[in-house]
Amino acid sequence: MRYLILSDMHGNWEAMRTVLRKVRRKRFDSTLVLGDLVGYGASPNQIVDSMRTLPGKLAIVRGNHDKVAADLDNGQSFNEAALVAARWTTEKLTRRNLTYMKSLPIGPLVVERDAEDAPRVAICHGSPMDEDIYLFSEQDAWGAFQAEPRAHVTFFGHTHVPSLFILHRGGVRGVLLRGDGELKLHPRMRYLVNPGSIGQPRDRNPAAAYILYDSKTRVVRWYRVPYAIDQAQSRIRAARLPESLANRLAEGI
Ligand SMILES: [Fe+2]
Repeated sequence: MRYLILSDMHGNWEAMRTVLRKVRRKRFDSTLVLGDLVGYGASPNQIVDSMRTLPGKLAIVRGNHDKVAADLDNGQSFNEAALVAARWTTEKLTRRNLTYMKSLPIGPLVVERDAEDAPRVAICHGSPMDEDIYLFSEQDAWGAFQAEPRAHVTFFGHTHVPSLFILHRGGVRGVLLRGDGELKLHPRMRYLVNPGSIGQPRDRNPAAAYILYDSKTRVVRWYRVPYAIDQAQSRIRAARLPESLANRLAEGI
């Protein structure tokens, strides 16, 4: 199976639209969405609407911002700007899209199994243990590798940093994924892979990030796509959302 993997769109339609245009000519069978469709950005309905027309089969899990925007969590762990944006998002979502957000499944989800029924590909938002947990360090990843479903490769989001952790012979190694690149996964190792964020990258590269994965050839390809950041910022300012949410897009923080 060939997968397109998208995460942390955060209501940034300019970034999402650019990524969707870019992948139009690429070949894949299924789209995996790792959560945080909304929050921070000023185009939540456009992002939710786009889920209905994504190419191929869709597997999706909710993110921490999705559950707050869907009014399933009070957002007490959020900073002020995030909370203001979440409340604004709840108000702006159409009734149909709010219902959709409330129905998003909680990860982890197994999306592919091998001939022996072992999990081959899984998705989650923060960690397989909990959607709110961040996987930044090798120590964080060690705990996540012990958690079910123990898939060969698990795609995760939440940190907005394109990265990859490898479990091999009981040790974990972490790698930051910079620019565009590819890696062939080893069948006897296990992996946690983060495509980075489409709508609010935080690795000091403001370009939108996504991944393609072919589970047959075991090749992961990661990409960065520049988009019209100024337009996304204008929308945030026009919506009177916190200025910091517009400014950070240009810096990739
Ligand atoms: Fe996020």
